[in-house]
Amino acid sequence: MLEAAGIYVHFPWCVRKCPYCDFNSHPTRTDVSFDAYVDALIEDWQAQASRFAPASFATVFLGGGTPSLFNPEQMQRVLDMLPLEADAEVTMEANPGTTEHASFADYHTAGINRLSLGAQSFDDASLEALGRIHSASETRRAYTEARRDGFDNINLDVMWGLPGQDPGAAMADLRAAIELEPEHLSWYQLTIEPKTEFARRTPILPVEEDLYAMEQAGLEALSVAGYERYEISAHARDGRRCRHNLNYWRFGDYLGLGAGAHGKVTLDEAAAEIVRTANASQPRLYQANPEDLSETPVPQSERLTEFMMNALRLVDGTKVTTFEAHTGLEWADVQRLWQRLAADGLVDAERPVTTPLGLRYLDGLLSRLLDA
Ligand SMILES: C[S@@+](CC[C@H](N)C(=O)[O-])C[C@H]1O[C@@H](n2cnc3c(N)ncnc32)[C@H](O)[C@@H]1O
Ligand code: SF4
Repeated sequence: MLEAAGIYVHFPWCVRKCPYCDFNSHPTRTDVSFDAYVDALIEDWQAQASRFAPASFATVFLGGGTPSLFNPEQMQRVLDMLPLEADAEVTMEANPGTTEHASFADYHTAGINRLSLGAQSFDDASLEALGRIHSASETRRAYTEARRDGFDNINLDVMWGLPGQDPGAAMADLRAAIELEPEHLSWYQLTIEPKTEFARRTPILPVEEDLYAMEQAGLEALSVAGYERYEISAHARDGRRCRHNLNYWRFGDYLGLGAGAHGKVTLDEAAAEIVRTANASQPRLYQANPEDLSETPVPQSERLTEFMMNALRLVDGTKVTTFEAHTGLEWADVQRLWQRLAADGLVDAERPVTTPLGLRYLDGLLSRLLDA
């Protein structure tokens, strides 16, 4: 594996399914045993460790679903099995409304040093329209408790472009998040994903002109408050960027444990052999055979687009050396295509980074790469 690899661990249950969500998450039932799921994660890990033999991980992301439905002892079992670097970034996603059963201090003691709280909105009517199980005051309470219990690296997820929202309401939401002074803010535009409840019964969303006004005003407010935009939706203060996600965006290596989790592993750096891994996504199927991992090679022909789909999301892009090390391709070999994009003002001619125009029209830029 490449150096500075990360590991993603998936926890596939939620109290209930939100109507906009297409993540691999399932309403929890009384017959689900979280202890048995952790047993499966351990088996999954042992099988992958023997296959890929990573020395140690620089980052861990405990994501979901709703990982905070699992208690600190269960998280401790997961973290105890993993070889971690001394200063590893260990993030857990936590949903307000599910954190009351355990103390944040115990999660901290288990080894989690970064929290990602799913605030989504600070307007109770919007939270209800999103099918969330918590109020804005529960989010504030969870945040305050996490701070009190020692978390000095907190991200808030907030969405904009919500049903019935006008630019003033979107800004009020963002200001409420900024007032809490998290180290990191993920500010996502709500998208309607196929096969979700919102795709079947789509609510009335803000018109394009209002969306544009929200985006401009929001980016300005984040910047004035000291949040540096380093990826399309990610904003960090004082350099507290999410190292785990940066590794994805740079097409670095990571393992994926748990139901439906994906990994990307460089098997032989010299021969530039890269595989994608995937576990069964149905929790029941996964738990029946946790060591059953599918492996799909990433052919050279797909690596340029796979790399760029990630790297071009970064405002600073990446270095040519990262491109070559993480894809096994030569920068010189992609020059004809790259110079055409540069001539259209979409990318820098010298390295993998967009211009502001390219970042704004990233989807169009990526489809030109895919069609090439
Ligand atoms: C893995 S998800 C869920 C984390 C956690 N279970 C929660 O809901 O708070 C991470 C984040 O993606 C964002 N997200 C999920 N679905 C989205 C959608 N359809 N459009 C935009 N953002 C979305 C939400 O902000 C969410 O917190
Ligand atoms: S709580 Fe998070 S992961 Fe679960 S359904 Fe809602 S958005 Fe999806």
